[in-house]
Amino acid sequence: MPTVSDTLPPVLISEADIAGRVAELAEQISRDYKDKGDIVLVGVLKGAFIFLADLSRRLTIPRTIEFIAVSSYPDSDVSSGAVRLVMDVRGNIEDRHVLIVEDIVDTGHTLVYLKELLESHHPASIRTCALVHKAEHAEVDVEIDYLGFGIGDEWVVGYGLDYAEHERTLPYIGTITPED
Ligand code: PRP
Repeated sequence: MPTVSDTLPPVLISEADIAGRVAELAEQISRDYKDKGDIVLVGVLKGAFIFLADLSRRLTIPRTIEFIAVSSYPDSDVSSGAVRLVMDVRGNIEDRHVLIVEDIVDTGHTLVYLKELLESHHPASIRTCALVHKAEHAEVDVEIDYLGFGIGDEWVVGYGLDYAEHERTLPYIGTITPED
């Protein structure tokens, strides 16, 4: 079982920088969807719960909230990209404008899977929003329409992101060095 150090992870993206960028994204999304009626934000559990909460409360357009949960197949390796649906959206998204809200896009497999899955519900449109993107790790091409921050190859925790389920509630995004 991995352990987490007692000391706080060093800051990669501060609380103030996150808040500022979330406000900018919310402004941009509100502007883009202003004439489209309401949108449905689909938060991807678990990691997106804090980003979704902050982003959604800053929007100035009508919006509803859904959640979806996925996980990698337990006995597949990371790079295989096999994603499994754990919980589908509860509401009807047919003919709705859908915005998928992710905490992090790493290889891109999860977002590709989610876009295909949600397309099968026949929404009016689908766009994607992610707080952070590890471009160096991309294995598949997937468009992120609204991106908070590009980051390097570091292991990040906080603001919803975990290491073995720890550190999700850290108010900033920090880096850790996983222990063996
Ligand atoms: C993270 C993140 C994305 C996915 C991205 O979820 O929330 O859903 O990984 O990875 P990918 O681009 O390589 O597919 P994770 O599996 O860590 O689950 P969690 O959100 O419950 O922490």
